[in-house]
Amino acid sequence: MLEKILAKDNLDQQDIIYLLKLEDKADVKRLYEKAREVKQAYVGNKVYYRGLIEFSNYCSKDCYYCGIRKSNQEVPRFTVSEAEILETAKWAYDNAYGSITLQSGERSDPLFVEFCESVIANIHKQSNQELGMTLCMGEQSKETYKRWFNAGGSRYLLRIETTNPELYEKLHPKSSLHSFEQRLACLDTLREVGFQVGTGVMIGLPDQTYEDLAKDVLFFQAKNIDMIGMGPYVVHNDTPLGAQTIEQNLNTMQDRAWRLRVSLNMIAVCRILLKDVNIAATTALQALHPLGREKGLEAGANILMPIITGQEHRKAYQLYNNKPCINDTAEHCKNCLFDRVKSVDNQVGYGEKGDSPHYYKRLQEG
Ligand code: 5AD
Repeated sequence: MLEKILAKDNLDQQDIIYLLKLEDKADVKRLYEKAREVKQAYVGNKVYYRGLIEFSNYCSKDCYYCGIRKSNQEVPRFTVSEAEILETAKWAYDNAYGSITLQSGERSDPLFVEFCESVIANIHKQSNQELGMTLCMGEQSKETYKRWFNAGGSRYLLRIETTNPELYEKLHPKSSLHSFEQRLACLDTLREVGFQVGTGVMIGLPDQTYEDLAKDVLFFQAKNIDMIGMGPYVVHNDTPLGAQTIEQNLNTMQDRAWRLRVSLNMIAVCRILLKDVNIAATTALQALHPLGREKGLEAGANILMPIITGQEHRKAYQLYNNKPCINDTAEHCKNCLFDRVKSVDNQVGYGEKGDSPHYYKRLQEG
């Protein structure tokens, strides 16, 4: 059965569910092997860095799972100054990181929009337009997306979190600020504006089924998505969903091991089905296993997001418990990641933007 599915050119929902459920050691090994074959053929074995600058944890949203949700009073709030963000971006450039990712809590007030626009434009200028820039600042108006794109942002990552609208509702307050339809519409808008568009989901959420996850993968395919950033759901104990997950005894070692395995299977399935997209081995994988990100690369991912946020801010930017590297510096993360990439026989694409090949194919096809 496994070989029959792996030999197919396209996968249907049942095939995907079969692959996501694999847990036998030899089967999983075979699945990752196939994913690595496809990775080698379509994107090569280079891993591209997106130095992650988490520049502000102020957030207007109240997502039930997220550690920096508006109602969490335990988190000291911060915004890094423009000068410091520029300095951090310069560090990335000087260290031949091909790209950075700017990430923050979600705000859409004029001050924030302008601040981001200026930061993006100045990073673009100071790096001679050579640094790729992925933006991860949530749902915004078309006008804002346009301004940030024109300032020099080239990619945008906006996770759909889950494509099951009922599950989405359980994860978010019922308000116009947390609308599933709005999130969906934003993905289309980003595409229209011209970004390379990334999305993703959380994996192993309470009440999430294999069918949900299979539909998520088919959604990425149907939406012609260029980049995927997804990872396991990781409990944050100061959040409503985190507290509930613990209370219902759904965060045992077995639960966490299961979330990790299904996340890796998701990466492999996405690689096998979608082929030429960029897929990140996200930090959340490492929150569940010390070698989580390496495992992600072995399962078919080709992007790493080394945290380069200043050490003093890392503690206050915890979307989930157990976030790794919060006591590290950018320098430390750089050396550590190099070893990790080498350990799985991949190379770092230093100084290269590492854009999604799928994006260029999509442009060619009009
Ligand atoms: N576990 C895993 N991922 C999380 N995110 C937020 N909170 C958590 C959590 N508890 C992810 C969401 C969001 C991204 C920035 O971080 O998917 O889109």
